[in-house]
Amino acid sequence: MNNAQPGILADVPVAARYLLFRQTTGIDPASALQALANEVDGTGCVIGLGQSLLLSLNTPIDGLHDFPSSSHPGAEVPATPAALWLWLRGDDHGDLLHRGRRLTQLLAPAFTLEQSIDSFRHGIGRDLSGYEDGTENPEGEDAISTAFVNGQGRGMDGSSFVAVQQWLHDFDQLEAMSAQQRDHSIGRRISDNEEIEDAPASAHVKRAAQESFTPEAFMLRRSMPWSRGTESGLVFIAFGHSLQAYEAVLNRMVGGEDGLADGLFRFTRPVTGLTAWCPPVTADGRLDLQTLEL
Ligand code: HEM
Repeated sequence: MNNAQPGILADVPVAARYLLFRQTTGIDPASALQALANEVDGTGCVIGLGQSLLLSLNTPIDGLHDFPSSSHPGAEVPATPAALWLWLRGDDHGDLLHRGRRLTQLLAPAFTLEQSIDSFRHGIGRDLSGYEDGTENPEGEDAISTAFVNGQGRGMDGSSFVAVQQWLHDFDQLEAMSAQQRDHSIGRRISDNEEIEDAPASAHVKRAAQESFTPEAFMLRRSMPWSRGTESGLVFIAFGHSLQAYEAVLNRMVGGEDGLADGLFRFTRPVTGLTAWCPPVTADGRLDLQTLEL
């Protein structure tokens, strides 16, 4: 797939910075979006457009809808939409900071920066809990057919739907659990990353087992740890040719099918949640916004 934003398929970078923008009422966003399209190529910066922005352009995208917020006994899954989501990717936080500043200036005054989150790769790609993340990710052709729209025509093919959730870990809770309780909350052994066959039904990988859904719920995860001051956790990111797989897995994780909550909730909780549509790129590597008539 040569018209997908390449940063989606690439391995997670060493360093990342997420920028979330709000749209300014009363200012036509077209020229800011055109400037953005000329500036970024989907490699060093992956871009997602939110529902409110697409609606303001009168170009809703089939398959994009609001993040599914919900409340559960003792747990909230919040929705915190953004007009624009940027994932800056690189290997130096200083460079990312300055690139982010330039893009923020480029997008003003049509868009205002609301939130930035610094992220990083931890070891071989571990969550801060120590567990390896991404083992069951689809690869090669499977990754492409999982993550990107195909067969819907120019302007849509190569695009992707993304779900983004910032999770805040409670390390006191995690450390108060025994080693077995921790392994059972994930469903894999931290020591060798092997799946634990007799883990409880609440174990994360049992809840999320992609092949156990009808239809199968494969997604391309590109999550990265984050930290700010004394707070830290995981920015969970899943790309798909639709949002269906993500929504099905999240629904089971929160107990939507059988009332049983995912073991992850014992030590972490989501504090943000957004969905966005990631446009394809043109042959010369620029963002392709023809679906938005731009
Ligand atoms: C703090 C939040 C989360 C953490 C720490 C986490 C961590 C993990 C870990 C350690 C694995 C096992 C290795 C792997 O296959 O990657 C895993 C698997 C998986 N996770 Fe998560 N996860 C989180 C949130 C989510 C969310 C919100 C979803 C989707 C709604 C999700 C979907 C999946 C899927 C689909 C798998 C693979 C399951 C399989 O087919 O075996 N995860 N996760």
